[in-house]
Amino acid sequence: MTFRTATLPSQVHFWDTWHLHRGATGEDPLHRELRQRFLDLMPAGERVNVADLGCGQGHDAMAFAAAGLTVTAIDFSPVSVRQVRHLAGQAHRSVAAVCHNLAEPLPLSADSMHGVYAHLSLHYFDDATTRSLFAEIRRVLVAGGVLVFSVKSTDDPYFGTGDEVGPNMYCRNGHLRHFFGSEYLESLLVEWKQEDVRPCAGRYASQEPSAFFHVVARKPE
Ligand SMILES: C[S@@+](CC[C@H](N)C(=O)[O-])C[C@H]1O[C@@H](n2cnc3c(N)ncnc32)[C@H](O)[C@@H]1O
Repeated sequence: MTFRTATLPSQVHFWDTWHLHRGATGEDPLHRELRQRFLDLMPAGERVNVADLGCGQGHDAMAFAAAGLTVTAIDFSPVSVRQVRHLAGQAHRSVAAVCHNLAEPLPLSADSMHGVYAHLSLHYFDDATTRSLFAEIRRVLVAGGVLVFSVKSTDDPYFGTGDEVGPNMYCRNGHLRHFFGSEYLESLLVEWKQEDVRPCAGRYASQEPSAFFHVVARKPE
């Protein structure tokens, strides 16, 4: 990843601290809604493989496992991966929790996932890395497989605040974000079958308002 400043704070450290001392509830209405949309789109079947990218504390991964899906939950924060493993153990759910940086190729086989879900975890990378990540998601999905994700949009109140470190990328209080505009999002999805691209406003793990895109797309058959 290349950024304009060489001195970005460690994002693993930022997220480890966030997961230890703050975290999300998984209960914000928009978050619940996106999780349910993903579940509703999953095929019936004996073994339905899904990946939760940037899984955080595992609220979504646990819900997917409870619904009978075979879940691989990926995050680069060792703290969050431990939390997911703990939660899964307590609930007697089988979730493969993997510590991995999404800037690197996904540790998943080609054409192996029926669904990929990424709630607020694809908006941390520069353009080249973002495009590689979307290509990786396409690689691991089966034909017709579903990608459901949310990202911060350029309508977000934090857009333009903090240190600018790249096009539409800002680091605010140690937290790096890439805000997506609709044209940018469109450019990432040209090789996908877009089913729904929806701007929305709400809250995530905070009382502060945020602006997002919620997206449902499919790898073409
Ligand atoms: C806003 S949180 C969302 C967590 C979870 N998906 C949720 O909705 O509750 C962003 C998550 O992405 C993870 N993350 C950020 N950058 C990452 C990267 N380069 N590789 C893997 N995970 C990353 C963070 O550790 C964090 O868990």
